[in-house]
Formats: sequence, structure tokens, C-alpha cells
Amino acid sequence: MDLKVNQEVVRDAMVIGSSAKMEHVMDMVCRIAPSSLPVLITGPTGCGKEVIASVIHHMRGDPRLPFVDINCAAIPETLVETLLFGHEKGMFTGATGKHQGYLSITGRGTLFLDEIGELPLPQQAKLLRVIEARSYRPLGGAVNLPFEGRIIAATHADLETMIKHRRFREDLYYRLNVLNLEVPSLRERRQDIPELVRFFLRRVEQKVDFTDGALRAMMALDWPGNIRQLKNTIEKISLLSDENPITEQSVAAFAHQQGLSLDETFDSMADQVIDLTCEDKVERMETALVRRALVRAEGNKSQAARFLGVHRKYIERKVKLCNGV
Ligand SMILES: Nc1ncnc2c1ncn2[C@@H]1O[C@H](COP(=O)(O)OP(=O)(O)OP(=O)(O)O)[C@@H](O)[C@H]1O
Ligand SMILES: [Mg+2]
Repeated sequence: MDLKVNQEVVRDAMVIGSSAKMEHVMDMVCRIAPSSLPVLITGPTGCGKEVIASVIHHMRGDPRLPFVDINCAAIPETLVETLLFGHEKGMFTGATGKHQGYLSITGRGTLFLDEIGELPLPQQAKLLRVIEARSYRPLGGAVNLPFEGRIIAATHADLETMIKHRRFREDLYYRLNVLNLEVPSLRERRQDIPELVRFFLRRVEQKVDFTDGALRAMMALDWPGNIRQLKNTIEKISLLSDENPITEQSVAAFAHQQGLSLDETFDSMADQVIDLTCEDKVERMETALVRRALVRAEGNKSQAARFLGVHRKYIERKVKLCNGV
């Protein structure tokens, strides 16, 4: 089943990022960690919710206590109860022995319920009862057993909207959301990208470097899959690229090939230009692009054309039109 106890997550539990947003998250983590209250971690896919959950677990106290990681989306609905609560011998056909459930394995450790929004409604009610009563009864068991662990849940779904559509129980939401931690998308903390790139580069087999321009190109991308996508991209680029160091151009080519979109980056730059108080914005933006490309290319028109993805003739025309840009 989809159960990972400790090692793998722990090995990965390195939280990189010194942007103000990440510092705020880590500050919250330090405050939250010592308590035993439930935590709800929200944030888009791949932004590090699981990493943060395991850091909370490790900061809380004895790291030898289990960190039981359950992906609610991966458990078949019919098995949720037996997997969580466990069952006694002979409970159903094939139940040849007593089965220890996740709640029992967790003990005084942490039960991490990833993708909590995927838990079916009937099982949400059962989980609510465990949290409220701090106890549970294994299937076929005669007595209730205490649950002494800490619950950390995570989701990339908007639970409040799910509540409105009656797909998530409001009472469970309030029980889980006692302490809330919102992990920002990578787009909201682009300053962390160079640090993350260097961190992942140290871990890949093929030792390559990134030029400053390549790092800037990585910072400009959208990363809808957040850190997971950044990590995968670095693994692929370091394996497939022939050049070392990796340049801005190969990042751009790779991004294009992988369909990494720049739409949002362009939209936000467009908003900035639209807000400027002058009339000939489009014209001046084009001129500025050519001017900056020429500066970076140290006056080499062919290189500037490559930077902008235009024909050399376009640069020449622009230079002539503007008397030297
Ligand atoms: N701050 C970070 N520093 C270094 N690596 C990170 C960081 N955050 C995430 N990662 C890495 O990025 C990958 C995705 O992280 P994680 O699984 O925690 O994301 P998630 O938010 O739980 O994703 P999902 O919503 O898909 O479950 C992992 O390989 C993890 O090690
Ligand atoms: Mg996750």
C-alpha cells in the first residue's frame, strides 16, 4: 500500500529557500512543531507540503517515532477503514491474521494524510470521530484503542469550495485546520530558484553548471509543477545537454520543448508596461528589447537576434530606424 515510514522522506527533508515567503513558512514551522495540535498544510502541487510535514515531525521531538505517510488518493475506498484502523483475525475472508492499522503504527508519531481532499465522505466522518474521541476501534475489535499521534493533513485542493459543494465535511475541516500553513508556489518566490537549482545540481550524477543567464532563464519560467518540476527539469537537462555550463539558450530551448509556459511572466510584464504613463508603449518596448539584447550581446547583432528569437534583419532595421537604438 502507499505507506512510507520515515527514511525516504527524511532523506529528502531539506527545505531550501531563503526568500521572505519561505522564511515566514519556516518561522511558522518552528512555532507549530512542538505542539500536538493538528496541522493543515495547503499549497499547489509539488511545492513541498510533504517535505514541510516531515520537518514538523522531526522538529517535534523524538525523530525515531514513526512518520506514517498516507496518500488518501491512492487508497481504494473500500480499504480505508481496514488500513487505518486495522482488523482482528477472521474479520473477513482472507483475514488470516490480526492486521495492524496505520493509526496503531503511528503510535505517538505523526500520521500524515496527504491529499486529504480525496478522502471519501463516509471515511471523512470516521476520521472526524478519531480526532474528536482520540480513540478508534479496529474492525472486529471489542475495545477502543487510544490514538496518541499527531495528525498533519495536506491538500492542493480548495477545501472551502469543496465544503460549499458538499464534497468535504465542514466539521472535519475545522478539526484539521487548527494550525494552518500555506506553502507558496515557486512563482511567488522566484528568488529561491537559483539556490534550488544549485541544490539539485549537487545531487545529479552528471556534474554540470548553469551560467548566470541560465539561472535567470530558470527564474523567468512559470513552473506550474513547482519544485517537483524544477527538480525533474534539472535532472533531465543535466543528463541530456551536451554543453557545460548550461546556457540561457539551452534552458529556453528545453523549456520550449517541455512546454514550460511563460504566459504568466509575459502577462505580468505586460501589466507593468500598460501601467506606464506614455503613449507609444509598444514601440518603446520593442526598442528597449533590442537595446537590451544588444547590450548583452556586446553589440553583436546576430547574437542579439538569437537572444530575442528574431531575424538579424529585424535588429538592423530597428537600429537604422532609431538611429542606433
Ligand atoms: N524547499 C524545498 N527544498 C528542497 N527540495 C524541496 C523543497 N520543497 C520540495 N522539495 C522537493 O520537491 C519535490 C516535491 O515536494 P513534495 O512532495 O513535498 O510536494 P507536495 O507539495 O507534497 O506535492 P503534491 O501536492 O503533489 O503532493 C520533492 O522531491 C521534494 O524533495
Ligand atoms: Mg504531497
